[in-house]
Amino acid sequence: PVLVVDYGAQYAQLIARRVREADAYSEVVPSTASVEEILAKEPAAVILSGGPSSVYADGAPQVDPALFEAGVPVLGICYGFQAMASALGGTVAKTGLREYGGTQLRASTEGSTLLDGQPAEQSVWMSHGDAVTAAPEGFSVVAQSAGAEVAAFEDDERRLYGVQWHPEVAHSSFGQQVLENFLRRGAGVPADWTPGSIIDEQVELIRAQVGSGRVICGLSGGVDSAVAAALVQKAVGDQLTCVFVDHGLLRAGEAEQVERDFVAATGVNLKVWDASEAFLAALAGVTDPEAKRKAIGREFIRAFEAAAREVVADAAASAAGGDGDGEVRFLVQGTLYPDVVESGGGEGAANIKSHHNVGGLPDDLQFELVEPLRALFKDEVRAVGAELGLPAEIVGRQPFPGPGLGIRIIGEVTQQRLEILRTADAIAREELTAAGLDSTIWQCPVVLLADVRSVGVQGDGRTYGHPIVLRPVSSEDAMTADWTRMPYDVLARISTRITNEVAEVNRVVLDVTSKPPGTIEWE
Ligand code: XMP
Repeated sequence: PVLVVDYGAQYAQLIARRVREADAYSEVVPSTASVEEILAKEPAAVILSGGPSSVYADGAPQVDPALFEAGVPVLGICYGFQAMASALGGTVAKTGLREYGGTQLRASTEGSTLLDGQPAEQSVWMSHGDAVTAAPEGFSVVAQSAGAEVAAFEDDERRLYGVQWHPEVAHSSFGQQVLENFLRRGAGVPADWTPGSIIDEQVELIRAQVGSGRVICGLSGGVDSAVAAALVQKAVGDQLTCVFVDHGLLRAGEAEQVERDFVAATGVNLKVWDASEAFLAALAGVTDPEAKRKAIGREFIRAFEAAAREVVADAAASAAGGDGDGEVRFLVQGTLYPDVVESGGGEGAANIKSHHNVGGLPDDLQFELVEPLRALFKDEVRAVGAELGLPAEIVGRQPFPGPGLGIRIIGEVTQQRLEILRTADAIAREELTAAGLDSTIWQCPVVLLADVRSVGVQGDGRTYGHPIVLRPVSSEDAMTADWTRMPYDVLARISTRITNEVAEVNRVVLDVTSKPPGTIEWE
């Protein structure tokens, strides 16, 4: 892998993503990793990230100079660049010339490994107070800015490189090219990390892990569990059984998508467990959002457990008939790389998200986890899914909460209310898709204010119906969000259709709150 050593900046994951966009596999390691630990991973190259410290501050993370003796190509970025300069005998000082944001760079591109073919004047993204004032011996200086006499240096002999700016951010105009030049020309890292190669590698790993054992996987309708299941199916075929718990809180067409489209695309063994009545019973009289989530989570575990027991019993029965290994020992989880990094990057127990967490299973139903997406970012999961032939509706799916429509009915959840909301939601989704807004909008919850009534006039009569709230949001990661400024005519079409086609609804309102202070969902 290409290792990104994380010096505490928010940029380390972004660097890893950029490296992967350049078709090279990369991983983030903490700055506390020793040179031995780093070398044990046999890195094709190492990138030292930026970080908030000053190299001279007490306790500032340092780079062990032994790293530069190991023959591994290294690129230092921002703090990593300064730490590298200081470890190799250059000087770093507080120059009093801070540079934050877009900065003009003067580059000596000719013969430069990092900057070859780029304009001599370019705009890059800087964020530094200290600067390298003298490059270590053996390095040539290939760029300068007003606040950084030495803004980039290179030593082709030792394959050591550094830049003061942040090539990983989009504001650095030739940033991706700098990273690719380092990887290809500087470090000789091949461009071989592609969806196809990810699939081949994971298929091998899954086969090695599960052997002839049996595997179970819970499908939620979301992209992660679908891609994880499809990978395992490709690796071990009939040894996998997928369980889809239908909790009755899905949107129109979603259960069918799993039952029909997913099975058609993968040929997977699917056990559909219709538990919608149990979920409705558990939700009767419940109005508090957290109580709803708990009830749904509890029912989910119960349903999954019952389904899993059947899968286990079926497997034992078919093994008794001489058909393979009867023990179901493995459970597939769609854990992604950002979860792994955030939980410390360690191996072992997964940090399992969402209420589709089946970690609450009883002791006699314990499984070893199979996590084929552990190394992947979300966009890579989608690319792998597409390569595996999953339908666009599955791989391109917008986020949808595990508790489903259960937390989009404000008030008690009943069958009738679910039907009202499902119809209104289907209309909104249809119109948003028809208007080509699916990629502009992060997600658009449609919410039924089931305990609110307002007066309307429909046909010739006075009505006393429920409002529907549209909550279109734009976001990068759902941590923060803004309401989407979408075209009025699309809003008008959605409103007209919902009030015409859903008898119980006589008013459609638009939520114009950002997050914070509002959350994306209403509950
Ligand atoms: P909020 O409402 O917290 O939502 O701004 C942030 C993102 O998380 C989704 N969400 C959930 N997903 N179980 C889930 O699996 C939940 O209980 C849940 N609540 C919110 C929400 O749709 C948005 O994408």
